[in-house]
Amino acid sequence: MTSEHTLAVRDLTVHYGAVPAVTGVSMEVKGGSIVSLIGANGAGKSTLIKAITGLVKVRSGEVTLGGKPLTNRAPNVILDHGIALVPEGRRLFGGMTVRENLEMGAYRIRDAARQAELLDTCLRYFPDLKAKLASDASSLSGGQQQMVAVARALMSAPSVLLLDEPTIGLAPAFVNVISAVVRDVNRQGVTVLLVEQNAEVALRVSHHAYVLESGRVVKHGPSDVFLHDPDIKKAYLGL
Ligand SMILES: Nc1ncnc2c1ncn2[C@@H]1O[C@H](COP(=O)(O)OP(=O)(O)OP(=O)(O)O)[C@@H](O)[C@H]1O
Ligand SMILES: [Mg+2]
Repeated sequence: MTSEHTLAVRDLTVHYGAVPAVTGVSMEVKGGSIVSLIGANGAGKSTLIKAITGLVKVRSGEVTLGGKPLTNRAPNVILDHGIALVPEGRRLFGGMTVRENLEMGAYRIRDAARQAELLDTCLRYFPDLKAKLASDASSLSGGQQQMVAVARALMSAPSVLLLDEPTIGLAPAFVNVISAVVRDVNRQGVTVLLVEQNAEVALRVSHHAYVLESGRVVKHGPSDVFLHDPDIKKAYLGL
């Protein structure tokens, strides 16, 4: 456990205009762990992720990494602290090749040899992308685009990786690839916060889970316990 990579939010509130989207949320992603955040449509999952990464303004409360405050810092500053985001809906750079998208992810890495090494690692994780490096990113299938989005984030050599619904709409084979990569990246020491509507995937991949309802944390605990929790099963696992 590396406490300098522990990501925490404390009593976080975010509004869109007058409307609250996240209310008083406290959460801890221990350095070296995988935490998942589950919740229905509109629960506030993306808002929380965007607040952590500086994409929406926090109204009150704080975001810290290793105890250092990062609340309301600009997205590039958050990235400079080693926190990378795989955004909801992928948001690849259209009109750019897969290789260019990956290079954009590595813009902080000045050393060419290190960049090449990161690219090698990404292509080992996602060998399907090898033949696609020169293709326009928008010409790829949904599953391949999601791989590019994950790889782009990994190209920044993050110490903390945030993923917002990386498996939504994907065929099971792609879900398995993404899940395996998230696990492996974590084994290499990266701290992970995984947002998922697919609670089954989230709970199988993560160590600890938080449940968000209407912008509030209603429950959190060890993921393996949640997999057998009758309330969670009924509400989120469709059992
Ligand atoms: N840009 C915005 N302006 C106004 N309201 C917003 C905006 N983005 C989200 N909201 C509202 O904030 C609440 C939380 O939305 P958010 O996107 O964080 O939920 P989510 O849990 O990520 O949902 P989903 O699973 O559909 O991605 C919802 O009521 C949503 O309508
Ligand atoms: Mg969302």
